[in-house]
Amino acid sequence: RKPVGAPEDASPRPVTKVGVLGAGLMASQFALLFARRLGVPVVITDVSQERVDAGVARITGEVDKLLDRGRVSPDDANRIKALVSGSVSYDAFADADWVIEAVFEEMSVKQEVFRKIEQVIAPDAILATNTSSLSVSEMGSVLSDPSRLVGFHFFNPVPVMPLLEVVRTEQTSDETLVTALAVAKTLKKTAIITADQPGFVVNRVLARVLGEAMRGVEEGTSFDVVAQGAAPLGLPMSPFELLELVGLPVGAHVLDSHHAAWPERFYPGDGLKKLAEFGHILTRDKKGNATGYDPAAVKLVAPARRD
Ligand code: 3HC
Repeated sequence: RKPVGAPEDASPRPVTKVGVLGAGLMASQFALLFARRLGVPVVITDVSQERVDAGVARITGEVDKLLDRGRVSPDDANRIKALVSGSVSYDAFADADWVIEAVFEEMSVKQEVFRKIEQVIAPDAILATNTSSLSVSEMGSVLSDPSRLVGFHFFNPVPVMPLLEVVRTEQTSDETLVTALAVAKTLKKTAIITADQPGFVVNRVLARVLGEAMRGVEEGTSFDVVAQGAAPLGLPMSPFELLELVGLPVGAHVLDSHHAAWPERFYPGDGLKKLAEFGHILTRDKKGNATGYDPAAVKLVAPARRD
């Protein structure tokens, strides 16, 4: 089904090479997806050779897992691995026509990366950002051609979650937008076109649920009772498991940015920031299955428990 708001009269640009700025967990996951589904060379970069190597190794490891589970053939596994390469130099991006960033979630860092990459890439190459909560148009204000920038927001876990938010700014051209929609389709994701506002659509809803879950704990209800109370919402995991899945620092950043945009409507995330520094909420068995809540985490945010 065609996404609501998709332009009628523009044609997508062909994508023959993908550049991924950032080699962290999420970036590696979608770099693999680009190589697997688009079948084009994908180059990843980061600030050090170690990080680049770790990113490529993570991708290779994930391809091996797909092979072990019979999800890809041995030929496909070799083909995907051959498509992925790493480089610390932006020069490797010179012939990329689709470049997506997933670097540290800080406006100045992202702007700096885009400012530099625009010097290297072709004038008609498209730029995308996987930001979850920063303004895409503010990010694009450093570009000489902001019409080539679009938000392209994946969800965790990237290979599994079907949805993708395609964020259109006031400047995003129709050609950029339809190319993003075509890429999303080839990745087998369902795209929704969203406005460029804090949290876009999904995180705005999630920030409310996760923020209120945290607030419940901080006001004295136990993690366990809040998780049980959230169950009727039908989420596939509890709010606290979900926060750990996206990463507690990322979760805290998302809640913070919503609070900054609408202070009276969103939880400020102070307790979650303490938990992010501590590192986790749940205790887990050797297989990674949740077994309970760490008493030290409970003590950090819920000193006045009543139940
Ligand atoms: N990474 C990669 N693949 C994973 C995975 C992970 N972390 N977790 C599960 N999978 C895969 C499994 O390998 C399995 O694949 P297969 O079918 O090929 O074997 C498939 O997902 C199903 O896994 P399971 O049967 O083990 O587990 P579940 O059925 O319990 O599903 C789940 C796991 C998909 C993670 C499900 O619990 C879920 O959907 N949780 C909610 C996730 C969610 O809401 N994400 C959005 C977060 S918000 C966000 O990312 C935005 C950001 O900006 C903050």
